[in-house]
Amino acid sequence: MIILGIETSCDETAVAIIEGNGNDVRVLSNIVSSQIDIHKKYGGVVPEIAAREHVLNILPVVNEAFKKAGIKRAEAGKKIDAIAVTFGPGLITSLIVGIETAKVLSSVLKIPLVAVNHIEGHIYANFVGKKDIKFPGLILTVSGGHTMLVLMKGHGKYKVIGDTRDDAAGEAFDKAAKLLNISYPGGPAVAAEAKKFKVKNLKSKIQLPRPMINSNDYDFSFSGLKTALFYQLKKDKNWKKRVPEYCAEFQEAVVDVLVSKTIKAAKDFGVKTVLLAGGVSANEKLREKLKISVAEELPRVEFSLPDLKYTTDNAVMVAVAGYFRALKKDFIPYEKIKVDPNLELR
Ligand code: KG4
Ligand code: ZN
Repeated sequence: MIILGIETSCDETAVAIIEGNGNDVRVLSNIVSSQIDIHKKYGGVVPEIAAREHVLNILPVVNEAFKKAGIKRAEAGKKIDAIAVTFGPGLITSLIVGIETAKVLSSVLKIPLVAVNHIEGHIYANFVGKKDIKFPGLILTVSGGHTMLVLMKGHGKYKVIGDTRDDAAGEAFDKAAKLLNISYPGGPAVAAEAKKFKVKNLKSKIQLPRPMINSNDYDFSFSGLKTALFYQLKKDKNWKKRVPEYCAEFQEAVVDVLVSKTIKAAKDFGVKTVLLAGGVSANEKLREKLKISVAEELPRVEFSLPDLKYTTDNAVMVAVAGYFRALKKDFIPYEKIKVDPNLELR
C-alpha cells in the first residue's frame, strides 16, 4: 500500500510517500521545507507568516515528493492508495493549508483520505522500517507543544496517563535558550552548549530542581524549572561565561524527570515496550539515558527510538500513522474532514 503524507501543523511544510507491506514500512520520499530561518528573528513561530509560507511551499513540496518517489503526477491517482493528513493539534491557519491540499488531491485524484493526529504521527515515527513493536507500549511523547505519557494497547488505541501541567519539555528548552541568549530553536542549541561542558568533563556546581520527580502521578511541570534558571542567572554575575554549564544542568534536570516518570509508569502498567517520540526525542542525552534506564530497570521490556531524521516534524510519520489506519479502512470523506487545533489523543 502506498501512502502520501502531508504535515503542516506548525512551521514545517512536509510531504512524504511511504510504502507499507504488513509491518514493513519503507520510505520512498521525505521532503521537509523548514521555516526555521524565517521565524528565528522573532524568537518563535509567527502563525500568520507560517501559514503564508505553507501556501507558497506546499505545491513545490508535493511535486518534489512525487519526483523523489519516482511517481509521475499523471499516474498518482492509480499508484497512491491513500492520502494521510495532519488535522490537529497545531496552528489553525497552518493546518488548513495541509488539509485543503489533501482535500483537493483526494477529490481530484479520487484517493481516500485518512485524518491523522499530529501526536499520533510522532508516535508512528517509531514504526518506520521492519518493526515488530509489542503492545502494550508506553510512549514518552515530548515536543514543543506536548509532554505526555501515553499507553498504547494496539494500533490507534491510546490512553493518556500523564501530561504536563504547564510548559511542554520542548517549550522549556526553548525558553531556557532565550534566557541564556542562545540560538533558536532552543532544544538543539541547549543540547549543543551542554555538550561543550561535558567535553571538559567537569561536574556542575549549578543545581536546578527536578520538578515533580517524586510526585505520585505521571504528570510533569517545567515552568518552575525555567523560573529557577531565571533566578540563578540573576544572582550570577558571571553567567555568560558559564552558559555550557547552565545548559548541561538544565538538560540534565529535564531528562532526569522525563526518564524517572517514564520508568515508574512502565513498571506500574507492566508494558512490553517503552517508546520515545516527538521533537525532543532528538535529544541525545534523553535517548541515551532512557535506553540505559530501560535496560537496567526493566530488562524484559523492549525499547524503541525513532530514527533521528523522523524526530522533529515531518510527513513520513503522518504517512505511517495513516498507513496503519488505512489498513483498518479508517477513511474520512473529504467533505467531512475538519481542522481541530486543540485535538486530543484518544
Ligand atoms: O515535534 P516538534 O518538531 O514540533 C512540535 O510538534 O512541537 O518539536 C519541536 C521541539 C522544539 O521545542 C525544539 O526545541 C525541541 O523539539 N527539540 C529539542 C531537540 N531538537 C528539537 N529539544 C531538545 N534537544 C534536542 N536535540
Ligand atoms: Zn511535532
